[in-house]
Amino acid sequence: MSEKIGRVPSRFIFYLMTSSGFLLILSCVFLFEFSATKIVSSRVLNLILENSTTIHFRSTATTYHGTVMPKSQISDEIPWEDLEKPCSPSERVKEASSPLKKRMNCDPDKASLRVFMYDLPPEFHFGLLGWKGSRDRNWPNVNGDGKIPSYPGGLNIQHSIEYWLTLDLLSSEFPDFVRPCTATRVANSSQADVLFVPFFSSLSYNRFSKIHGKERNTSVNRILQNKLVQYLKGRSEWKRLGGKDHIIMAHHPNSMFDARKKLGSAMFVLADFGRYPQEIANIDKDIIAPYKHVVRTLPQAESAPFEKRPILAYFRGAIYRKDKGFIRQELFYLLKDAKDVHFAFGSIQGHGVSHAGQGMASSKFCLNIAGDTPSSNRLFDAIVNHCVPVIISDEIELPFEDVLDYSEFCIFIHSTDAVKKDFLLTRLRGISKDEWTDKWKKLKVVAPHFEYQYPSKPGDAVDMIWQAVIRKISSVRMEEHRKNRYRRSKIFMKSS
Ligand SMILES: *[C@@H]1O[C@H](CO)[C@@H](O)[C@H](O)[C@H]1NC(C)=O
Ligand SMILES: *[C@@H]1O[C@H](CO)[C@@H](O)[C@H](O)[C@H]1NC(C)=O
Ligand SMILES: *[C@@H]1O[C@H](CO)[C@@H](O)[C@H](O)[C@H]1NC(C)=O
Repeated sequence: MSEKIGRVPSRFIFYLMTSSGFLLILSCVFLFEFSATKIVSSRVLNLILENSTTIHFRSTATTYHGTVMPKSQISDEIPWEDLEKPCSPSERVKEASSPLKKRMNCDPDKASLRVFMYDLPPEFHFGLLGWKGSRDRNWPNVNGDGKIPSYPGGLNIQHSIEYWLTLDLLSSEFPDFVRPCTATRVANSSQADVLFVPFFSSLSYNRFSKIHGKERNTSVNRILQNKLVQYLKGRSEWKRLGGKDHIIMAHHPNSMFDARKKLGSAMFVLADFGRYPQEIANIDKDIIAPYKHVVRTLPQAESAPFEKRPILAYFRGAIYRKDKGFIRQELFYLLKDAKDVHFAFGSIQGHGVSHAGQGMASSKFCLNIAGDTPSSNRLFDAIVNHCVPVIISDEIELPFEDVLDYSEFCIFIHSTDAVKKDFLLTRLRGISKDEWTDKWKKLKVVAPHFEYQYPSKPGDAVDMIWQAVIRKISSVRMEEHRKNRYRRSKIFMKSS
């Protein structure tokens, strides 16, 4: 750290000092706020906050894993919402008009990413959740008493990325809404940095793939995809860059199966590249988003340290898988007799979820073994339970890997090594308490990056995805600008 400081400008040190001073003030405030005998009334509290002019909500630069990140790359941001948790949407509106809240609102002109969202009819998004809409309303009202349709639970929820991103964009239209200032919806597509296609493709696959009638292609899921392709290909916005500046969400590995090839120039938001040919999806243009974890987040205070986690390694899932999944079987036979290794079979539903949570929270390591796709929600369940993930999946893609160094909180093992007799257990038993504890501490820091929630909070999964879009779109722009080099001068020569 100290050698890093030598290289950063003194402006940064200034920010560091002011923000740490502020943090000191804030921690006092928290102390007051949470002591049983409320010493300071919330009105006074508001005044203190109002008057502390050194507040740096969004520090302009934050060091994160050794690199200087733009804007709010989380970590040391203050969870303002936690001062007073918004409950119902109507309460949120009231709070938003208080001066304390105003301060952190997002000025749409200052947002880092301007997003144009196609005004698709509800059948492509909230209509799939049973929401009806009306002639002049394609979107639920997110800033009032109106009920926001909920996403179906069970295992569907792991691919609900489409739902959280869309809600976040809808809420960005209300200047008083408390959320990060990363992405904002703009009404005019020519003023947008990216164009967002609000099709709930994973839900459409999960819920509407059933074939009706005789024709094989008449499931709602297929019809919607065909309609979408026709719609987009006819738009001038799509034609401008051949779709390269479009965001299409296809988190379930089978979603968008019919349309993916035709829309392959767009920026996909995916779980991994397991079922995609390289030319349709790849890390240069697409974004890997975390699964929404299905096991509940372990509160920091309940997170057991090394000695209080009796299970060495935990695995939940099906043992017999197709494709690359054979490795699970081999590992199962290698590990099944070890006393401190726990194998739980099958997928989790109902009570299984809380069992899985307990199992992970009492394990030092959680195994993530390739199944029929390289990734799964298991990794994110492990992270939010601070159970050090052991990743045995050579082709896995990890979310936000350009800003997160997973080796700091995960163990990676090649599958060829993992299936050698005694290799895995020797490796895990060889990890010292100190080494494990370092990873555990890091897990507690990074876990919030993998939370999907509404309203979104700085540094959560929604915010991280928008930031990843910003990093990706810059290369699209660069390519476009390079192409323009001579085109512009030709126009100039003609007119002169
Ligand atoms: C800050 O406090 C002073 C009194 O000390 C008060 O007059 C002023 O209005 C306060 N500023 C704000 C922004 O509340
Ligand atoms: C959208 O923005 C462009 C460029 O800023 C402008 O020329 C156009 O009139 C705008 N369209 C609408 C409908 O406001
Ligand atoms: C189904 O497929 C047939 C021929 O393959 C095509 O003519 C028809 O338009 C398709 N229907 C839909 C709804 O996509």
